[in-house]
Amino acid sequence: MFVCSCFSVTEQEVREHANAGACTPRQIAAASGAGTDCGSCVRTIQGLLGRAAGCPRREAARAGAAAVATVPAAAVPVAALR
Ligand code: FES
Repeated sequence: MFVCSCFSVTEQEVREHANAGACTPRQIAAASGAGTDCGSCVRTIQGLLGRAAGCPRREAARAGAAAVATVPAAAVPVAALR
């Protein structure tokens, strides 16, 4: 079944790119072009990626790691806080 009709990209192709390491719609776009024309397929691609396993960042979040890195207060320049 086609996910992206603009570039004739199938659901299977998106899954293959995801299994090869593409974790985001942008990475799927870089690999296949899907989502780079009308954009109507991006939500479907996001949905497929949301169910796919293998994305290191997603796997870390599932394991309970912080989704966003924390920076110690001492490492932030005072000028950046003003
Ligand atoms: S359907 Fe994917 S860019 Fe148009």
